[in-house]
Amino acid sequence: MSARETERLHASVLVAPAAERRRLRTQRRRAATALRAEQHRAEQAAARAKADAERSERRATTYLPAAGEPGPAALRTPGRFRLPRHQDTSATLAGAYPFVAEGGLGADGVFVGQDLYSGGSFVYDPWVLYARGIITAPNVVLAGIVGSGKSSLAKSLYTRSLPFGRRVYVPGDPKGEHTAVANAVGGRAIVLGHGLSTRLNPLDEGHRSAGLSDREWAITVASRRRDLIGALAETVLARGLTPLEHTAIDLALTAVVAQNTVPILPMVVDRILTPDEAADGRLAEDGRLVGHALRRLVAGDLAGLFDGPSTVRFDPSLPMISLDLSRVTENSTLISVLMTCSSAWMESALLDPNGGQRWVIYDEAWRLMSHPALLKRMDAHWRLARHYGIANMLIFHKLSDLDNVGDAGSAMRSLANSLLANAETRIVYRQESDQLGPTAQALGLTGTEQKLLPGLGVGQGLWRIKDRAFVTQHQLHPAELALFDTSSRLNSGVK
Ligand SMILES: Nc1ncnc2c1ncn2[C@@H]1O[C@H](COP(=O)(O)OP(=O)(O)OP(=O)(O)O)[C@@H](O)[C@H]1O
Ligand SMILES: [Mg+2]
Repeated sequence: MSARETERLHASVLVAPAAERRRLRTQRRRAATALRAEQHRAEQAAARAKADAERSERRATTYLPAAGEPGPAALRTPGRFRLPRHQDTSATLAGAYPFVAEGGLGADGVFVGQDLYSGGSFVYDPWVLYARGIITAPNVVLAGIVGSGKSSLAKSLYTRSLPFGRRVYVPGDPKGEHTAVANAVGGRAIVLGHGLSTRLNPLDEGHRSAGLSDREWAITVASRRRDLIGALAETVLARGLTPLEHTAIDLALTAVVAQNTVPILPMVVDRILTPDEAADGRLAEDGRLVGHALRRLVAGDLAGLFDGPSTVRFDPSLPMISLDLSRVTENSTLISVLMTCSSAWMESALLDPNGGQRWVIYDEAWRLMSHPALLKRMDAHWRLARHYGIANMLIFHKLSDLDNVGDAGSAMRSLANSLLANAETRIVYRQESDQLGPTAQALGLTGTEQKLLPGLGVGQGLWRIKDRAFVTQHQLHPAELALFDTSSRLNSGVK
């Protein structure tokens, strides 16, 4: 056999069994598929038969009437069950669903921003709430860390209440940030400081209420002047006046007023130091200390502000008046004296029965509260708020600022604490974590409210109005944002 034939034979031997195997494999596969299909059909038929059997068994058994049991047994059976719609008062429902958000303070008053729980708008007006009996005194305490938006909230509240006919008084503005707002709303900022030509005359007559007779007016002016000079002397002396000092001031004042149409402080000081001698000849001696104390205001380190006729007038009819203390912040006696003068004028305007309602804003109050005379006046305004128709607002950084006033147990400290106690609206902006405990304790906050405080953003605050609580976002109009901005100096040059 040739080599080629051998090769062909080998090939035929190899090819024939391979084809056979393929055929057998196909046969096996078909048989397996047919078997599986057969099994599947059998299973399906069995399942159908079982389901049919169950269904027919179910149908054959009667458990309950299709429409449910009638009468008192109705709730025991599945089936249609109808109740009449339930209606109740919101007070009852608030008890049944205590986590539902607050209903809000109504829509009357000044828009503040958004109530973050309900998503609705938040409106606040102390006079409206007072009239509705929700609060019993219109005073507000606002505390929050530096830059949390406290002053902006105060500015919004008072500017937005101007269209409601209210006026604004800022009796001491250590940063001078309310000056621009006062000018923008058609009010006036009294800027005082060394080197300025502005003068305040503590002997000004002040505001004359309508309906006073000339005689009553003369008596009012005399007593106002006596009180104010006495308060100024007390501030500089840092103690109360003795009866002899009272007499020395009174006699000097009477003599100066009798001889001059526009009495000024230097005249009174001269007169106290060199009086027309009275019977016992010791008047000069009695008035020496008080004379020199007041001399400090006209010739000493506090000179240049009170030693001439007033160049500015406290006009209570303006929508806003602010006393800008930004030029005198370094001198605490001067601040105290200036605020004493301005509070006295303000009081004369407040006493006017036609004076209307006013916001009185103590921004950076922690600085002002360190002056005992101012704190006393603040306390008096606080207590007389309802009588005068004023709403006081006290702004500071943390509630423990109140514990830095005076010594523990002192009268000053208790006055400061009574300010908080007499404020039914307490607004807490962001607080440092070390302040949470004292703040929660002072305001009676719940654990949840307390946890909320460190996470509050700019303009967000917890408002406690009596026993009610709101978490709000104060919203600013772009024009307000531009006017109220206090960050421009910090941001200047930063892209
Ligand atoms: N509701 C607000 N929405 C947006 N920005 C705000 C809001 N409130 C305040 N700001 C911004 O935060 C800045 C600081 O605000 P603001 O001066 O009111 O803070 P503050 O708490 O009074 O600070 P300080 O303790 O220093 O007096 C403002 O210049 C303003 O740009
Ligand atoms: Mg501020």
